[in-house]
Formats: sequence, structure tokens, C-alpha cells
Amino acid sequence: MCGIVGYAGPASTGRSSVLEGGAGPDSGGEALAAVLEGLRRLEYRGYDSAGVALVTGGEDGSERSLSTTKRAGRLARLVEALDAEPLPASSTAIGHTRWATHGGPTDANAHPHTSADGRLAVIHNGIIENYATLKADLQAEGVEFASQTDTEVTAHLLGRAAAAALAEVGADGGPADAGEALAEAMRRVCRELEGAFTLLAVHVDAPGVVVGARRNSPLVVGLGEGANYLGSDVAAFIGRTRSALELGQDQVVRITADDVVVTTFDGAPVTPRAFSVDWDAAAAEKGGYDWYMDKEIHEQPKAVADTLLGRTDASGALVLDELRMDTAVLRRTDKIIVIACGTSAYAGHVAKYAVEHWCRIPVEVELASEFRYRDPVLTERTLVVAISQSGESMDVVMAVRHAREQGAKVLAICNTQGSTIPREADAALYTHAGPEVAVASTKAFLAQITACYLLGLFLAQLRGNMFADEVRTVLRQLHAMPEAVQTVLDRTEEVRELARELVDAKSVLFLGRHVGFPVALEGALKLKELAYLHAEGFAAGELKHGPIALVEEGQPVFVIVPSPDSRDSLHAKVVSNAQEVRARGARTIVIAEDGDDAVLGSADLVIRVPRVPTLMAPLVTVVPLQVFAMEVASAKGLDVDQPRNLAKSVTVE
Ligand code: M6R
Repeated sequence: MCGIVGYAGPASTGRSSVLEGGAGPDSGGEALAAVLEGLRRLEYRGYDSAGVALVTGGEDGSERSLSTTKRAGRLARLVEALDAEPLPASSTAIGHTRWATHGGPTDANAHPHTSADGRLAVIHNGIIENYATLKADLQAEGVEFASQTDTEVTAHLLGRAAAAALAEVGADGGPADAGEALAEAMRRVCRELEGAFTLLAVHVDAPGVVVGARRNSPLVVGLGEGANYLGSDVAAFIGRTRSALELGQDQVVRITADDVVVTTFDGAPVTPRAFSVDWDAAAAEKGGYDWYMDKEIHEQPKAVADTLLGRTDASGALVLDELRMDTAVLRRTDKIIVIACGTSAYAGHVAKYAVEHWCRIPVEVELASEFRYRDPVLTERTLVVAISQSGESMDVVMAVRHAREQGAKVLAICNTQGSTIPREADAALYTHAGPEVAVASTKAFLAQITACYLLGLFLAQLRGNMFADEVRTVLRQLHAMPEAVQTVLDRTEEVRELARELVDAKSVLFLGRHVGFPVALEGALKLKELAYLHAEGFAAGELKHGPIALVEEGQPVFVIVPSPDSRDSLHAKVVSNAQEVRARGARTIVIAEDGDDAVLGSADLVIRVPRVPTLMAPLVTVVPLQVFAMEVASAKGLDVDQPRNLAKSVTVE
């Protein structure tokens, strides 16, 4: 939720803005260019409104001031406003793209918010839980509020604290300079705040300085040459630097063009962990596709291949050195609990089938938002696997903390370096899907399944549940999957046509069994979030226990048919389920393997996927469902990448 960017560096570097057709270097100079570039890359985090604040003036004795522009709506509206009224060049800027929590998406509620004296601007991600009390106190003192946001209290509190700290600069025991005064003000205010927040602030009297703080909300530092950056995630600055610093919980950071200073909220110095970002800027561009989602769907073979890369030794055995978890912990594990949300939870659900089969360890899959409220049974022998693309979903963060407090070990499967979940977990296994910009998760799902499978095989290898050659066989199957996924991608025309035909459907059902069940849930989720259509996924075996009552004439039902090689007549049972709904008028769209002619009698349309081993099937069967949802949304004229009401990274509970 909410994207945050900060820049401290030269006012002009001669490079142009990357924003096509808007806010070029004539407006706001390098600071604005850098911040808008970051916001464009972070817009997926929230897109209700956007705004920037720049500290301008001061050259040749001109008066310094704060220039703020903000608009409700997409980032493009802000860019239009900046084009219409260009801002002076600046070396210090902050920018924000909002996902509204307190107060609707209006110009007034857009960030930045300014202090009563107009000298400080602040942007915020998260929720200030004690804002009502703080606001009442401020109002009692005569402070007037211009917005309905929780954020505005921080602008007033920081404005006052900064004025006091700036007055103490150079005094005995006072801050050494204006930048340190602003950092000290931030520390003082953060100690008063409750809830989750990332805050960035600039002040007219601290030119060249951006101060940030984080508690339960993400913030990373980008180290450039002659310029430094702050961002909600590394996407904010990957166009400019790949060198980054992780910030911990309850820390304050002060950046200037050539310095980064980090402390705790109490002022104790901190040495942050440095890391190098392995995403490149081109990966976060649309690359000629109409939608990021389409591009990301097409990147799935690479996401799977990259997640497998470098994880076997010369003999073909699986090595996961990066886990850095004591193998004794993994050997003694007697239960795995997967915690995740949305699509990531469905990846965990798929993994359950494989991990239980390979390792003979019971696996529970739990929605992270429910986990800690049910008082789960956790012991030091429980391995909690937290799956998250962003590494920032607050529900998962809180579940991770709960698990660790209860003595369980936590292993994160994550796509985003420098994010909170892998940092707080005991161990991390990264997926290498590259930046996922579209709100609907696609390539991360395939990469998560791949990483979970690697983990399962590693456990089986370590604990002796599988022989080395069995592990190698499955690894070979996994290595063949990028090609199989590519085959599905080469055949999407039929599903695109179907989507255009079903654009007016009122409801779509999805049936699957075994690993096809979570795929059915994922197909339904994609359709809900993108096309705003009623969609439900069911375990096909549950059909007759209720859901079949939904079926009426013409009802589209996707049926994910397992391989004819699956155990326990599963194939025949799912084909029967397709027949049952078809007999009641449903229009059945059957996803089946090449050569599986047994489905012909129960299908109105067969969508073919290549023949792959049963446990690998989700990696191919989900792809037509992703394309279908994207295409229905597109045919309805909806914004595929930024569906209504959603944000990519859900950083509030
Ligand atoms: O970043 P995470 O993997 O933790 O995000 C989890 C869910 O919010 C996410 O998968 C969401 O369900 C997607 N919009 C689904 O497409």
C-alpha cells in the first residue's frame, strides 16, 4: 500500500526524465525526475492519488521554499499538473502514490501533507493507530487540519519538533546541523506514534536532506553516485542504482547526496546491511506489451528457470546453501505450516501435495491473516514457511512474528530483496521472478511453486526420504517446465477468443482436484480481481455437496483435469464431474493434457496443455486461467494492471 520515494542529490545531472511526455527536466530538475521515475515504478502499490514535495530556491540568495503538488487519481494526473505548472529545479524531493485508508482519494487527502508553518512536508505509508488522540490534542491547541488523513498529525507534530530541534542546532548538546535536527525531530515524533508507518520528510531549513523512518512498514535505501534514494522497495530506484541498504524495525535514516546515517528511534547508531539488487530496470518496463501482466505472464518460463538456477551441484544434487538454516532444525521438523495470502497461499497449497508426498511431513496451509488468531500449536520442531512475493504483506509479517515468538523456526520464500519478511525470518529462499509490477500475481506464483518444490526436495534429500536419483529425476522434471510453460504460452489464442466471447458472463466456476484444486482457486481469484466477476473455485469432489446447485443453463465452468496417469482414478473422477455439470446445462471448458481424448465427451471446449508429471501440472494448467482473466478484463475495458480497490503490496492488516 502506498509507494514512497525520496531523493537527495544534485539538482541537475543533465539526464532527462524517463517519464514520456511529461514532467521533463525543466520541471523540478533531477529531484523531480528521480521521484517521478520511482513513483511510476511503485504506482502498483497504490493509485488513488499522487503527490510530490520539493525544497526549492536558495540559489543566488533566493528564498527557499517548499513546492508541493498533489492530485487525486493516477500518477498521470499529477504529471499533467506538473507540466502545466512546472516547479523550480531542486536537489531534495519526496513523492508518494496513495492507497487510501483514512479519508477518500481527494486532492486534499493526497500526500504530501505540510506542517502548520508550511516549512515541512511529510509522506506516509501505513496507519497511525493513535492518530485520533494526537489529532484531538493538536486541535485543542488550535491546529487546523486540511485533510481527513491520519498522516496529517505527523506533519504537524514533525513541524513542531523540527522547529524546536532546528532552534537547538549548534547549542550545547543540540543537533550538529539542520539535517541532524530533522532526524532528531523524526525520532522524537516516532516515539509518540503507534501503528505501522514509513514516513519521509523534507524541511525548507534542511535543504539537501531527506529523513525517513520505519516501523512495521517497508523502507529501503538506494546508494547512488552523488545521489541517494529512499523507496518503499528497490523498484523505486533500480533505474539508477542497484546498491542498497536494508533498514530494520524502528529505525530513522537521514540521506544527503553523499551520506546515509541510520539510527534507532532512540538515536543509537546502526550499521545497516548492504545488498546488491539483482533486478534490472528493463525488467520493470512493459517491454512492448500493453499490460505488465501480459509481459509477466510471458516471463514465466524465465521465472521458473531463474528460480532453479544455481541450485544444483556438479553431481546434480540439490544445494540450498543460501538457506543458512541449521540442518539439524530441518532434520527434526515434524510439522510444516505454510503462511501466506492470496496467490502466495495457493502456491503453498500446491506445495503441500508435493512436500507431504516427498517428505512425509504433515503440511498445513494457513491464511496468514487467520494464523495467529486461532492460537496455532507451534513447537521448536515446527517449520513455518512464509511465502510472499513482496515480502511486505502485513498479515504475513505479523504471522511470522507470532510464529517466532512461539518458538517455531520461520523460513521465508520471497521475491523481493531487502523486504521485511526474509529479514525477520530465520532463513530465506528467494524466488527469482524479477520485479512483478501488475497487481495480479502471475510469474511469482510459478516461481513460488518452484521454490517450494526445491525446499521439499531438499528436505527429502536431507532426511533421507528420497534417494539421490529420485531427487535428480524430479529436478530434471522441474528443469523441463520452462519449455512446457512456453508451449502453453504459444497456444493462448483460443483462450483469448473464449474470453472475448464470455465478456458478459455473470459468473464463472472453476473445478479441480488434488493440485488442480488450488489452481481452480487461483483461476477464480484472478477473474475476481481483474474482471470484477463472480468466480468461485471448488474441489471437484465437493461439487455434489452443494456447489452444483449453482449450475444453470450456459454457466461457464472451467474443469482442470489431471493427467490420465494420476493415481486413484482421479482423472476419471474429474471427467465425471465435468459430465455432471454439463448434464445440468453448464458450458464446460476443460483443461486437459495433449492426447487425453477421454475428456472429449464432457467438454464444450478443450484447452490443451503439454503432458507433464502430475505434481508439475499446476505450472502449466494455471497459465490459460491467467490469460483468460486478463483477456476478459481487457475486453471489458478495465485496467488490467491496476484493478479497482487493490494494491500490490498489502502493508496494513
Ligand atoms: O506479496 P504477497 O505475495 O505477500 O501478496 C499476497 C497477496 O496479496 C497477493 O498474492 C494477491 O492475492 C494478488 N493480488 C493476487 O493476484
